[in-house]
Amino acid sequence: MTRKKMMAGNWKMNKTIGEAVALAQDISNQYDDRWPDACDVVVCPPFVDLKPAKTVFEFDRVEISVGAQNVHWEESGAYTGEISVPMLKEIGCAYCIIGHSERRGYFGETNEDVNKKAKALIAGQIKPIICVGESLAVRDEGTTLEFVCAQVRAAFAGIDAGLAKECVVAYEPIWAIGTGRTATPEQAQEVCQAIRATLAEMYGTDIADAMRVLYGGSMNPGNVKLLIAQPDIDGGLIGGAALKAESFVQLIEACL
Ligand code: 13P
Repeated sequence: MTRKKMMAGNWKMNKTIGEAVALAQDISNQYDDRWPDACDVVVCPPFVDLKPAKTVFEFDRVEISVGAQNVHWEESGAYTGEISVPMLKEIGCAYCIIGHSERRGYFGETNEDVNKKAKALIAGQIKPIICVGESLAVRDEGTTLEFVCAQVRAAFAGIDAGLAKECVVAYEPIWAIGTGRTATPEQAQEVCQAIRATLAEMYGTDIADAMRVLYGGSMNPGNVKLLIAQPDIDGGLIGGAALKAESFVQLIEACL
């Protein structure tokens, strides 16, 4: 089974509209027609930057998708400060990150919330990028695989096979995010393989083999090749290295 690679940039809370347009334009200027066959390229800027970034890519007619970093599961209503699936849909978002460890850690997002968000996104035909990953304490305890696979089961609870296929899973060990301390390719592969095995238990091997599992956590142009060479790692969810066109483009080109 050959799965197309994916490189998704999570800009987190960075870039004003002006800065976002400049970065999107810089990436677009380096676009290469070989990209779409080798790799799905996605940028996930803050909500206010989604439309401006999307407009740059549409104007330039490049196959680069935009994704959000969060969403609420209700379609509309009295949820001050929240953004719904129909709002993202109208902008043309193809993806949405959910369950990032920063949202779980700082904003109390639970496995149940992630599951509700995944269902709402799928119903709205936006592909969820579901983040899972353990803390250093869990890794040191030796319970990483149990912990991460339980997060996967909870995120996919009640989602049937045909719909699960549309989802992407991103394994992001918390201790590797923004720390410069990358998981070794073997460590990342071990967990990504366990994630795929969990998906296979839930949905069968055909579906699990068709789904993409990304690695995230200090991925950069220096370590990307070995990580994406692992059999169960289908690309990256990139933080810091996605904030500069030069390094993000190098990560995309590592997939060619
Ligand atoms: P860094 O690449 O900055 O470690 O961030 C990874 C991440 O959290 C992407 O979602």
